[in-house]
Amino acid sequence: MSKVLLEAQDLHLSFRGVKALVGVSFSVSEGDLFAVIGPNGAGKTSLLNVLSGLYKPQRGRVSFLGEDLATLSPQERVRRGLGRTFQNLELFRGMTVLDNVKLGAELAVGTYTDLLPKASVEWRIRRHAEEVLDYLHLSPYRHAPAGALPYGLQKRVEVARALAGRPKLLLLDEPMAGLSLEEKQDLARFLLDARREWGVTLVLVEHDLKAVLELSTRVMVMSYGEVLYQGEPAGVREDRRVAEAYLGRSA
Ligand SMILES: Nc1ncnc2c1ncn2[C@@H]1O[C@H](COP(=O)(O)OP(=O)(O)O)[C@@H](O)[C@H]1O
Ligand SMILES: [Mg+2]
Repeated sequence: MSKVLLEAQDLHLSFRGVKALVGVSFSVSEGDLFAVIGPNGAGKTSLLNVLSGLYKPQRGRVSFLGEDLATLSPQERVRRGLGRTFQNLELFRGMTVLDNVKLGAELAVGTYTDLLPKASVEWRIRRHAEEVLDYLHLSPYRHAPAGALPYGLQKRVEVARALAGRPKLLLLDEPMAGLSLEEKQDLARFLLDARREWGVTLVLVEHDLKAVLELSTRVMVMSYGEVLYQGEPAGVREDRRVAEAYLGRSA
């Protein structure tokens, strides 16, 4: 059995009567590509916001590497190795691609900045950033303002920024949405490579079931804040509740 990295127990979150999470429990083990699937409004982004510390659940508990996260800020969670990307790009559009990615690396290196000479820290941050840019084939764009790139490349920069922080577990909020088929395939390949070569465990949020089914090791399907299915990808298609949720709504 591989080690459990992230564990969520009985999460409840609502906004003035709107239930975003209703008793959500799951665990993610080292090496997983854990897909969270559901139509628009299912609660997927809310779940990532709770895991990353942006929202506080009304009930339930999240632990990472055995540590209860309740009192940790979003930044402290990142420093523990819990990284994320955003559904609506949160890049600094006027800053270069390299500077955006360096910001991600700074978060990870930041923990030991006090102990090292400044020049050494800067060198390390730059090296992390350059390595990730190279890896994601973004080096040719490193001096371009992030906001000037086509959408597909901006999404890749967002992934690069998160990976530059060397997370143990990376939460990705619909990284494939809005990409062409070819861009989706490229991104899927990069993510699988990162998982294998850097040992990053992935939680991949998607609204499109087909896009992630072959990639994932485990799947959780959500609808209206509830978990409809959790388990092997192979079992999803036969699940009656999943079929109803997807046939009942066009999203
Ligand atoms: N900050 C918020 N304020 C009020 N309602 C919210 C907020 N965030 C999410 N919701 C509501 O929670 C539900 C789940 O939304 P969300 O988590 O964004 O779903 P998904 O990412 O699966 O599309 C929706 O009904 C949405 O309108
Ligand atoms: Mg969302």
